[in-house]
Amino acid sequence: MDDSKASNQMWGGRFASGPAAIMEAINASIGFDRKLYAQDIRGSLAHSEMLAKTGIISAADQEKIAHGLNTILKEIEEGRFEFSTRLEDIHMNIEARLAELIGPAAGRLHTARSRNDQVAVDFRLWVKDELFRVAEALKGLIAAFLERAEEHAATVMPGFTHLQTAQPVTFGHHCMAYVEMFSRDLSRVRDALARLDESPLGAAALAGTGFPIDRHMTARALGFREPTRNSLDSVSDRDYALEFLSLAAICATHLSRLAEEIVIWSTPQFGFVRLSDSFSTGSSIMPQKKNPDAAELVRAKTGRVNGHLIGLLTVMKGLPLTYSKDMQEDKEAVFDAAETLDLMLAAMTGMVRDMTVNEAAMKKAAGSGYSTATDLADWLVRRLGLPFREAHHVTGRAVALAESKKAGLEKLSLEELRSIHPGIEDDVFSVLTVQNSVKSRSSFGGTAPAEVRKQVRYWKKRLAKA
Ligand code: ARG
Repeated sequence: MDDSKASNQMWGGRFASGPAAIMEAINASIGFDRKLYAQDIRGSLAHSEMLAKTGIISAADQEKIAHGLNTILKEIEEGRFEFSTRLEDIHMNIEARLAELIGPAAGRLHTARSRNDQVAVDFRLWVKDELFRVAEALKGLIAAFLERAEEHAATVMPGFTHLQTAQPVTFGHHCMAYVEMFSRDLSRVRDALARLDESPLGAAALAGTGFPIDRHMTARALGFREPTRNSLDSVSDRDYALEFLSLAAICATHLSRLAEEIVIWSTPQFGFVRLSDSFSTGSSIMPQKKNPDAAELVRAKTGRVNGHLIGLLTVMKGLPLTYSKDMQEDKEAVFDAAETLDLMLAAMTGMVRDMTVNEAAMKKAAGSGYSTATDLADWLVRRLGLPFREAHHVTGRAVALAESKKAGLEKLSLEELRSIHPGIEDDVFSVLTVQNSVKSRSSFGGTAPAEVRKQVRYWKKRLAKA
């Protein structure tokens, strides 16, 4: 018999001939859903054990099924398994091989189950594993930032708004801003895990089944908290994939902002950091160059991750309940976003760990651009009782005077300052240095080195418990 003309052996009972080649090509998902093989076999093992325990299939058949599935697992892991496009997807590839290995007993595995709940449980298991991977990677990145923050709690640098010098801050404080961001990403991972933790297995095609299955048993066996509560929703829900993509997009966006800062900081014009040789590249024509390629690629790959979120939202938005084949398009988006995010997190952790901080360049920049102007205004309020608006005005005139002399505020003489406001006294100079400026910002969450160290301690303790 010409195999290409044969109807599908899994669902071809009412079909006279096989699909057109184009149909086969558009229909098949085996090219990408083979990634789910381990989850598919886990799900089938749990399902068959439950079927035997409830007396739906015999113990002898279950034993054969389990043996066959474990053989297949080994074949796939050792690269000896032959995947076939004609068999569409991972579920049918495995089931067909099971039939080859154990004969008719294989046909009993699919009792009280459909590919609709099967793919839903496989995919949930996969996303769950990936969420654990992301959590670990985030913890590594946060730990790297905590190290740098502790080391640089008192290293001054300019703080920016509009990328214009605003007020002096510490590099440690800047690092801790990223600790906050990535900790929120971590908490989003945990939220997603809690909502995902339900087993759809046993929802069958869409309506449940008349067989006396035990969904609590399979849920437990697969490590889920409980079974899902509505069979229609069970096979049509892809929220866990969307939530993964959303948190991945937010996290990638954070990584991209950090990448952008690293690109700026590592220019010779800024010179705040030097990337290690292992995370930069040279130019084939300009020998002096050291390029931040890894940071640039992290920034660029964010586009892919964000795109996948919009892609799947768009796939889902028009679908009536319950399952539609459109949903097969969920996998490539999630797999690619996961692989990309894992790589971005690893690269960024390496860069943060290895980069050299140029304290002198940061300090020099921190003092330029009249960054302590607000400190002068605050001094006028505190010492002379000026309303802040008036102090702001007086300070503006001092900045204009300094600017006309092409000097910093601290370089003005007492007489010059007094010509702007007669009440100014000698101790004003103590607030015009960047060190004193950052030290004075000791409000909760402020940039003072003591406050930064306090925040480092807080997060270290909190992460040790996580
Ligand atoms: N490969 C399919 C998917 O990923 C499996 C489910 C197929 N179900 C069906 N009724 N055709 O969505």
